[in-house]
Amino acid sequence: MKQVYIETMGCQMNKSDTERMLGMLAHFNYVETKEPHEADLLMINTCSIRQLSEDKAFSAIGLWGKWKKHKPDLKIGFCGCVAQQKAEGILKRCPYVDFVLGTHTIYRLPDIIKRINQGERVCECEETHKTEADKEKDYEIKRVKSVNAWIPITEGCNNFCTYCIVPYTRGRERSREPEIIIKEAQDALNQGFKEITLLGQNVDSYGKDFKDKSYRLAQLLRDLNALEGNFRIRFVTSYPTDITDELIDTVVELDKVCEYFHIPMQSGSTPVLKAMNRRYDRETYAAIVKKVRDRVKDVTITSDFIAGFPGETEEQFVETLTAIDEFELDYSNTAAYSPREKTVAAKWVDKYIPEDVKTKRLARLNEQVRINCLKSNQKFIGREMEVLIEGFENHKGQNVITGRTRNNKIVHIPCDKDLTGEFVNVKITGAKTWYVNGELLNAEYDKISTSTAAAN
Ligand code: SAH
Ligand code: SF4
Ligand code: F3S
Repeated sequence: MKQVYIETMGCQMNKSDTERMLGMLAHFNYVETKEPHEADLLMINTCSIRQLSEDKAFSAIGLWGKWKKHKPDLKIGFCGCVAQQKAEGILKRCPYVDFVLGTHTIYRLPDIIKRINQGERVCECEETHKTEADKEKDYEIKRVKSVNAWIPITEGCNNFCTYCIVPYTRGRERSREPEIIIKEAQDALNQGFKEITLLGQNVDSYGKDFKDKSYRLAQLLRDLNALEGNFRIRFVTSYPTDITDELIDTVVELDKVCEYFHIPMQSGSTPVLKAMNRRYDRETYAAIVKKVRDRVKDVTITSDFIAGFPGETEEQFVETLTAIDEFELDYSNTAAYSPREKTVAAKWVDKYIPEDVKTKRLARLNEQVRINCLKSNQKFIGREMEVLIEGFENHKGQNVITGRTRNNKIVHIPCDKDLTGEFVNVKITGAKTWYVNGELLNAEYDKISTSTAAAN
């Protein structure tokens, strides 16, 4: 048996790829270790969404390169979005790297391992058009033990927002076959997972590339909802204008699909949205959010925003702050604009916003997000809600279980038993900025056996 350590950066798509790679490596007698010093094979699965993430990848791998002096048999692999983008350049820049593996070809990992063990240095980064069934063979996925299983349903993106590198690192949008997705969901449920989260850069454009134009996200949700058992279904990320009325109705109609939408707006200003090549203006986004809120009771709507996009004026930035407030966005991820190679906006050097202005705008943006998140949490004080427990910890001397409501609010509940994997009923007693407090209502919770706690 050999040991492999994989450092995963970036989004859930990368985390999901890591689970697939661990599954493949298991067939070649590699077991996962959490301790990089013990590993025979070190891999880094990189993200290039911002310059900072790329820089972190190179500094981490540089450190590993030094370990080779004392451990000559150590093998090092550079994978993920930075690999896809820089390919052979990484072999040249980092002489200690044994292989570079892009995002399209992870199914070739077993072959690559054989080749590097024979002393070859390998770069596999081209875009392939193999079918999913071909790619994935029968390799089992080594899922991270938790309550929630992530299942990619689309990969890549056709939108080419002017700031974003994803279309270059993940290629054109491809939808995975429903049969494969349903099988992965069933396998996860059989293993004890209690929540399935469907994953894609634009999850609501699922199926646009199928011959059968009627099979879209709504239909996939219906098929998954029909699987047996008590579990939840979520999906992220939604592109605003791809959210159809049918999808909203399906969320309302299906009992297992949760009241949660992640709908990144990116900017509250129409001219900035236009420069970003987003296909909606402020009013259209507002109308979509209103429609979702009107139809889906208690829905949580979260977003992403970029501060300091090239050419963004102070007034336009303030429109982002007012959008968060006006549309009552429950939570938002935020970032300062980072120029990315190959993207259109990176060429607008004369319009770049100075670093200090970007930093100040980001801080103001974060403050607005905090205010809204607290307001949103306060709305639920006094309500009774179902919580799926995800963890058990000792918090300042008190045992607490933590979990999420259907609408994705994080809940802390005092409790001496680890109820991970259980659905419990909770009364919300207080609100903090990032989570709410609650107390257990289940009279029978004493009888719940912790040994059945799933996958923990
Ligand atoms: N497909 C999703 C977003 C995927 S990328 C969508 O269209 O909304 C995740 C987030 O990273 C984006 O929503 C954006 O807010 C942020 N991001 C992407 N490129 C960036 C860049 N160059 N600088 C700063 N943030 C960026
Ligand atoms: Fe990037 Fe835009 Fe595609 Fe989202 S929709 S992944 S932001 S190009
Ligand atoms: Fe990063 Fe690639 Fe995801 S660039 S955000 S890891 S798709």
